[in-house]
Parts: sequence; C-alpha cells; structure tokens
Amino acid sequence: MKFFVDTAEIEAIRDLAATGLLDGVTTNPSLIAKSGRDFKEVTAEICGIVNGPVSAEVVALDHATMMKEAEVLRKIADNVCIKVPLTVDGLKTCKALSSEGTMVNVTLCFSANQALLAAKAGASFISPFVGRHDDNGFDGMDLIEDIRLIYDNYSFATEILVASVRHTTHVLQAAKIGADVMTAPPAVIHALFKHVLTDKGIEGFMADWAKTGQSIL
Ligand code: E4P
Repeated sequence: MKFFVDTAEIEAIRDLAATGLLDGVTTNPSLIAKSGRDFKEVTAEICGIVNGPVSAEVVALDHATMMKEAEVLRKIADNVCIKVPLTVDGLKTCKALSSEGTMVNVTLCFSANQALLAAKAGASFISPFVGRHDDNGFDGMDLIEDIRLIYDNYSFATEILVASVRHTTHVLQAAKIGADVMTAPPAVIHALFKHVLTDKGIEGFMADWAKTGQSIL
C-alpha cells in the first residue's frame, strides 16, 4: 500500500520523506490556499522532495481550460499528476491526458459508478473521499469495498487512492480491503507509528539497560 501525504506544507513533507516511507503527495486548492504559497512554486518544490506522484489540481470547470491548465502544470516536473474533478468535463480531460500518457488523479469521487467512469477514462488514480462520505451519513469504507470489487472484476489498472482520511482506523480498513494508496494529513501518518505499549516497552528496556552499566558503542 502506497502512502501519500495530503498537504502543501513543505516542512511536513520533508519530515515524512525522511522516513523513507512516503510515496507521493496530494494537494488541492484548499491546501494550497492554506499554505499561503504560490501554486506553481510550491508544487515545483514538492516535486523536488518526493520522487513519486504529486497531485496538482486544475481549477477550471470546462474541458478546454482544464487542458490548458494541465499543460502548464505538467511542465512543472515529470512527477506531476494532474488532478481533475469527477465531472463530465473532468473525465473528458482525464481521457485526453491519459491517452497522451499523462498521470491523472480523478478527485471528489463519492460513488462506485463514478469510479467506474474514471477507470474507463484511463485515470491513474481514483480518489474516493471516505471522511466526507462518513460525515454525510454513509460508510466511506463500503464505497472502497465496492470500487475494489468492480476494479478487480474488470482488471482495471486505475489505483484506488483513499482520500479524506481522518484517522488511523481509516488507514487500517483501507489496507484490509486492499486499496492501493491512501493519502492522509501528516498528523494521521505520524499517529500510525505510535502505540502506548511501544513507548512503555522502550521505557522498561532503557531502565534495565541502564542498570547493566554497559554501552554498545
Ligand atoms: C485528496 O486528494 C484531498 O486532497 C483530501 O483528501 C480531501 O480531504 P478533506 O476531506 O479532509 O478535505
């Protein structure tokens, strides 16, 4: 399972990249606004930190302008993945870009039928938003299960990128279902490392080790 971080904060990305466990980055217009940075500038900086896909989202709503924006964004770096919304124009753009060999992430997916359309449009990634789905009285993980089943039925190469992840249980459930990728805020990824018994165990081992008066180095 690939781990992407869902942020445009450079320090947070550097920090996670240093673990060697970060496979990519996702951004969206809200995250860019939150960073306070210039979109193209910060995207180029992120692309220089990670080797994997860095999703940069178009903001136009019509196909022709989306194509023009994608042209600008894909020139930033080879690992830019063009993010388009799950609309008719977004999927037209996805089909056109994927046919030219450009990576595309189709975002704002809330149904398995939408995911089916994105796969047919040649998306590299489909981003179902599990947290926002949960917020609206649905079970985001049911959606991931349905998409996994449909993609396996037809051997679609589109990767399921579980997005809008809010907590570590989302990550666990996504991994059990067999999602290909998850993207989460830095705090959720950091929380994956933590267990109270790990901390307690280290504390005990350190206390006993001190009693030996030895040193390894
Ligand atoms: C995914 O690519 C989106 O950027 C993101 O996961 C949205 O998450 P949110 O629902 O927490 O805004």
